Amino acid sequence: MIVILDLGSHYNTVVARAIRAMGVYSEIYPHDITAAELKALPNVKGVVINGGENNVIDGVRIDVLPEIYEAGFPVIAAGHELAKCENLAEFSDDEKAIEDALRGFVFDVCGAQANWNMTNFVADQVELIREQVGDKKVLLALSGGVDSSVVAALLLKAIGNNLVCVHVNHGLMRKGESEAVVEVFGRQLNANLVYVDATDRFLSKLENVADPEEKRKIIGGEFIRVFEEEARKLDGIDFLGQGTIYPDIVESGTKTAKMVKSHHNVGGLPEDLQFALVEPLRQLFKDEVRACGVELGLPYEMVYRQPFPGPGLGVRCLGAITRDRLEALRESDAILREEFALAGLDKKVWQYFTVVPDFKSVGVRNNARSYDWPVIIRAVNTIDAMTATIEHIDWAILDKITKRILAEVPNVNRVCYDMSPKPSATIEWE
Ligand code: XMP
Repeated sequence: MIVILDLGSHYNTVVARAIRAMGVYSEIYPHDITAAELKALPNVKGVVINGGENNVIDGVRIDVLPEIYEAGFPVIAAGHELAKCENLAEFSDDEKAIEDALRGFVFDVCGAQANWNMTNFVADQVELIREQVGDKKVLLALSGGVDSSVVAALLLKAIGNNLVCVHVNHGLMRKGESEAVVEVFGRQLNANLVYVDATDRFLSKLENVADPEEKRKIIGGEFIRVFEEEARKLDGIDFLGQGTIYPDIVESGTKTAKMVKSHHNVGGLPEDLQFALVEPLRQLFKDEVRACGVELGLPYEMVYRQPFPGPGLGVRCLGAITRDRLEALRESDAILREEFALAGLDKKVWQYFTVVPDFKSVGVRNNARSYDWPVIIRAVNTIDAMTATIEHIDWAILDKITKRILAEVPNVNRVCYDMSPKPSATIEWE
């Protein structure tokens, strides 16, 4: 492993990923790690001190402890020249020189071996999970998202039916999603899976609630209550599995990085239900999590699925959710996804979905006046979800999707395409 010491550079993760892309494992540690702590880490071959634009915290310039240089490891101070390249994997000529320097350090100076790959990662984690958990049981909330699915498959490989997965269907899943969780984990992988259909419970709590933040709060709160009730029914659980990944940890704040948002995967359960956490993906970047899922044999659609918000279709069925509009939303979204896949757009567009507003418009159907819901199509590209641009979709594809939605989805008489970038709009409508 190559250790990167964090002096507040935004490029720590870029460097970590570049080293991992060379097949050498790399982890980021706080700048004030002691020589003893560094020596206690497994298989350290060298240290990258990655200085940067933020190494003044509260007016004080931070630095690594001088003893780090005497700890017996090769050290490179990477600093500012690395900070110039946004993505080390795609170098122009100058940048190529920097990658060569990093490569020379990793292999020639440190003598690291390129033996970090997903096969070895899975084997290592299986061993570590078994060490941590022994013959105790692990509970996991399996939403069917990429992270929870991959962590489920990994835990299943490590401890088999001592893993108990709970899938809560809040009634706001996309078409076929809960079914896929049951099919893949329940039937194909034979996991110990508790399936809870809480649709009625969620929809009745959400009845007449129009405010988006209020809807989010209800969905999040109710989810924890349902999960907690299931947890209490089970005996002898000691651990809680979580699909925490590296960006979750970074976003929750480090010694040098400001907090972006609180880590929504952690906590929420009542005091008397606190379990020890098992988080085998906590050092992985998103693309590595997907590679891990592929290594574990999960279906492509599950591993490469587009991002889906926690509150699910609840924030796309605008205003107070009603069953007829939720149905129109689910069906139109399924058509959109099907047609995007046929056109190869599913591999190109970052996020695409439909939205159903809470107002009607006039149309004509079978020579009679109709008064029905519109469906809005949204398709965006982004790097980090902070800003986004719209996808320029071929007219013929939009035309086909529109015709299908109007023919196949009840109570819809109009289809629109959202042209707005972020900003001024956000990606979701609520
Ligand atoms: P916005 O709408 O803020 O969305 O531009 C940015 C990204 O975040 C997703 N999103 C959410 N994800 N819970 C989530 O887990 C939420 O409440 C939520 N709201 C938005 C959105 O789908 C997009 O990918």
